[in-house]
Amino acid sequence: MSAVTIRRQRVEWVVAADRSHLHELAANVILDVLRNTERPVFGFATGGTPLGLYEQLVRRSLENPRLLTRWQDVTGFNLDEYVGLSPEHPQSYHHYMWRYVYRYLPVRPDRMFIPKGIGNLEDNCRSYDESLMKYGWPDVQILGIGKNGHIGFNEPARRLAMNTHVTRLSESTRLANARFFPSARDVPEQAITMGMAGILRAKQIVLLAFGEAKRDALIRAFSGWLGTDVPASLLQLHPHVTVFTDQDIFGDLS
Ligand code: GLP
Repeated sequence: MSAVTIRRQRVEWVVAADRSHLHELAANVILDVLRNTERPVFGFATGGTPLGLYEQLVRRSLENPRLLTRWQDVTGFNLDEYVGLSPEHPQSYHHYMWRYVYRYLPVRPDRMFIPKGIGNLEDNCRSYDESLMKYGWPDVQILGIGKNGHIGFNEPARRLAMNTHVTRLSESTRLANARFFPSARDVPEQAITMGMAGILRAKQIVLLAFGEAKRDALIRAFSGWLGTDVPASLLQLHPHVTVFTDQDIFGDLS
């Protein structure tokens, strides 16, 4: 079980074949911040990729009473939520966070922010950005990446939004996420997502990308070019990004 760490431009790459080892190494980053920051702010992602990381965070916190109590001081911000799904809906990201993470930890529910996909969406976006400004941008932002290079639900587009906003999901994203729903038709057409500023203002970014399916997105994101057609490419501007991946893409980067 070994991982190779490579620094290329300003991005740190941690490459290993074993995904659970990558989850463990990514968890080390989060737990270090949890230990050493007075009031940590974490940016949380959803999807299949970070589940192993959350499992590690929960298990290692439960094993260590001092670490466990640190979660009382944590503020959490999730990247996104589907429009039209109530927090109780089994496919909502609210439900995901409580099911896989929050129910195990002594977090303050009023400090665990997740965009609301129902009600007045404009108000929800505004109040989300106000909370981000009030509690501070994440110390660490956990990210996955879409096959089309999206981050959060910032989809490839002619222009990218800075702030939290309502977005229309691309067909490829709806298809990719259909596996979590009874059928592709049930995947909502819209979502609320933190904008690019919210993501790029995090002090540190931990990006997880596993499997062949994400290879092309990684290559396009870290090619040395920036483009709104690959929202993840803007991460190249950030001073502290670590990518945890099982894909060796260095031969394909120009
Ligand atoms: C989803 C989420 C993203 C996530 C990405 C990859 O649609 N909005 O935050 O990173 O797509 O998901 P997965 O990890 O399931 O491949």
